Amino acid sequence: MKIIGTGSALPHLVVTNDDLSKFLDTNDEWIRTRTGIQSRNILSTETITELAIKACLDCIKNAKIDIQDIDYILCHSVISDAIIPALSTFIHDAIGTDCPTLDLNGACTGFIYALDIADSLIKAQKAKNVLIVCAEEPSKFVDWTKRETCVLFGDGAGAVIVSEGGFDSKIHLKTQHTDALYCGANYGNSPFDKQEMKDPFLYMKGRDVFKLAVQSSKKDIDYVLEKAGMTYDDVNYFLLHQANMRIIDFIKEQFGLSCEKFPHNIEYTGNTSSASIPLLLDEMNKNEQLKDGDVLVFSAFGAGFTSGACLIKWGKN
Ligand code: ACO
Repeated sequence: MKIIGTGSALPHLVVTNDDLSKFLDTNDEWIRTRTGIQSRNILSTETITELAIKACLDCIKNAKIDIQDIDYILCHSVISDAIIPALSTFIHDAIGTDCPTLDLNGACTGFIYALDIADSLIKAQKAKNVLIVCAEEPSKFVDWTKRETCVLFGDGAGAVIVSEGGFDSKIHLKTQHTDALYCGANYGNSPFDKQEMKDPFLYMKGRDVFKLAVQSSKKDIDYVLEKAGMTYDDVNYFLLHQANMRIIDFIKEQFGLSCEKFPHNIEYTGNTSSASIPLLLDEMNKNEQLKDGDVLVFSAFGAGFTSGACLIKWGKN
């Protein structure tokens, strides 16, 4: 499997740390030093559906692929505008194709899950080209009165098209039990439902998340490299889930490699959950940082506790 194109879309509203300090007991210095984040984009007048469609159209244009050659659309979003139909069906209608569509929820690890399913579809010869879009709006489930969590996140959508060819991609996924990240949901008005209302905002044990993330990422990366018979030197770039700059730095240090191999953009996107790696990849693509044949490793981690890594080739040839 190989990646032949990328696309992205961010909300137009940029929210700086100073903007947050106008209604929260926080400040730019605290947020920068603990998380590396300076600003993030937050949905205001657009919807996540519009953002996802925009990212997909951008990706199709970038991949220079005929829409009718897309065999499957995989959409990852933790929440979206509707319970049904799936977000991927709105993308399907907007881009004008008749291929199957599927929505997934693997929390911040969702991009790796989508790649795993795309890889299986390609290997089973059910698809040659799969459009993946990760579209996330954590701004809708963080509590904007809680400085511990809301300052960390941003909204956005990142898309890729993966195709048959390249080399045999290696993907590893793992789930460990934890209560470190949780967000409840309440649905409907069933007169028979005797459950208590759940808190509909993100709950996070920050230090536990930190530990689980740094412990999982290196193991996941080592696992896919070993399966491929490759070493760190064979990899051009390691793209880590942009969760928090301190997590990224900690993981990076365990490898003892040059910083250039670990690009990041969390400074001005915040944590965009599953969209963070495709957004970063698109930025590198548009900045012409990638060359045909580059070997990429993605590593993500999130609620569950889910984690995973993917080793994949960049480029059409
Ligand atoms: N502004 C100012 N002060 C704050 C803020 C804020 N935004 N948030 C928390 N504080 C305060 C706390 O209230 C606490 O005050 P207290 O000592 O008076 O009680 C103080 O800062 C220290 O709080 P800690 O939680 O100990 O801060 P810490 O240095 O551990 O950093 C952080 C918190 C950044 C969340 C850290 O736990 C961390 O890096 N966790 C990783 C979690 C993460 O990044 N998750 C990303 C999302 S999950 C994912 O994508 C997988």
